[in-house]
Amino acid sequence: MHIYKLERIWITAGVAMLAFFLAVLATAAIVDGYVPNSRIQTIDPAKISETPPFDHPGLRKTGDKAYEAYYVAQIFQFTPRKLTIPVGSRVTFYITSADVEHGFSIPETGVNAMVTPGWVSSVSHTFKSAGKYLLICNEYCGGGHQLMASEVDVQ
Ligand code: CUA
Repeated sequence: MHIYKLERIWITAGVAMLAFFLAVLATAAIVDGYVPNSRIQTIDPAKISETPPFDHPGLRKTGDKAYEAYYVAQIFQFTPRKLTIPVGSRVTFYITSADVEHGFSIPETGVNAMVTPGWVSSVSHTFKSAGKYLLICNEYCGGGHQLMASEVDVQ
């Protein structure tokens, strides 16, 4: 089979780029220990109800307009069902799943995390405007997936 010189150059360049990107990725993963930043902490999904702070899901005040919110996702609901915070609050959400893969998304805020059993996902957001924000599951998790929602009320 005849391969033109220019073709050979482009194939070589393409393969070299691919190898370079893979090397960067492998270096970050192995040497620097990078993992997806939403998954930093493990938890036993069978023992969520007895593992603090997930044994009492909900809001914790950590400072002036600073909060931590602990959520348990489970077919087909989030606990807590509703969060009420003052406008301007910065909330760090910690979410874990008691059963299957769920999503954790507050549209229009950038809050979006996958919730995997065995892991604690984390995402932060500052709520600058008042309103009722819908918090939804955006990973298909079964027959009641479309019912899986919660509310963040920013007052
Ligand atoms: Cu939980 Cu979809």
